[in-house]
Amino acid sequence: MQYITIINGDGIGPEVMDSAIRIIDELKLPIVWETFESGKNYFENTGLLLQDGLLENIRKNKILLKGPTETPIGGGFKSINVLLRKEFDAYANIRPVKSLAGIKTKYDNIDIVVVRENTEDLYSGIEYMVTKNIAQSVKVITREASEKICRYAFEFARNNGRKKVTVVHKANIMKMTDGLFLDTYRQISKLYPDIAPDEKIVDNMCMQLVVNPNQFDVIVAPNLYGDIISDLCSGLAGGLGLASSANIGDDVKIFEAVHGSAPDIAGMNISNPSALILSSAMMLSEIGYKDESTRIVNAVLKTLENKDFHTRDLGGTADRIKFTNKVISHL
Ligand code: NAI
Repeated sequence: MQYITIINGDGIGPEVMDSAIRIIDELKLPIVWETFESGKNYFENTGLLLQDGLLENIRKNKILLKGPTETPIGGGFKSINVLLRKEFDAYANIRPVKSLAGIKTKYDNIDIVVVRENTEDLYSGIEYMVTKNIAQSVKVITREASEKICRYAFEFARNNGRKKVTVVHKANIMKMTDGLFLDTYRQISKLYPDIAPDEKIVDNMCMQLVVNPNQFDVIVAPNLYGDIISDLCSGLAGGLGLASSANIGDDVKIFEAVHGSAPDIAGMNISNPSALILSSAMMLSEIGYKDESTRIVNAVLKTLENKDFHTRDLGGTADRIKFTNKVISHL
């Protein structure tokens, strides 16, 4: 029996989680879901960020399927995502972006995987006021974490038949921090002569991604650039409603959609659940259900081929339930 921890999260979280679970349950796998509360709603109701027992449960199950959790902007509590990724050293954030048949965008044949460092950089949360009018944030880059993520990116490329790993940096300005990341990438790249190395400064990278995304294969980046670039990439291939992700640690793995809690459409049942469904398919593959994972991905792709089942973010009128039922019928 495989036990999996679930956090429904805020906003559209419970809706898209309902879709993902319904679909997996159709496959009648020996999976037990253990649901815990966390997020802004839970915090407002209880004063707690995480339900008691949640961290222990994740440590026991090693697999977490997570809905989006809201983080207050400019003040309030710290990001639950950052907290969980750091707690379980889920150091590699994998965000695949692929053109899908049925989703028309300006670009064809995009097939990029962003590998983002997940535990340090400007997300270390070390911020303070120097004076009333001067705020500082500390950017932390270590050789150890940089080595781990660069190695992960090259191993991923090798194991998945990919040809190139592009590193994104701003080492011309941040000579020490991004310089260390770039230097580490260069050292690691020498161990993988079968994979082409490639370096891009982050501003040029954004321009190149918009002008010619097909030149990219695997992208590795420190936390902040990786976060921004992966959203940019998801926009190239149909938007956040389709973008899945995994946070991989040596012990614990967290699967979640790239998108947030979408408070503007929460409770309306018009969200696109594809991103979390595809993330849950990544999860099934990771725990050994590769065929079942492919069945779900194919059912989503087949559903997306028919415009009658496109949700509003894709320019359609279908609601989440109609979309989910169709995916189930294609399983
Ligand atoms: P967002 O991703 O929630 O929404 C951006 C836009 O995309 C909105 O217009 C929204 O309606 C739309 N959208 C997102 N997901 C969609 C879906 N599945 N179907 C249809 N439309 C969708 O980003 P935003 O507004 O910047 O963040 C809202 C909250 O989410 C914030 O509190 C933020 O901190 C949190 N957040 C949480 C994340 C997580 O838990 N992994 C990731 C990103 C943001």
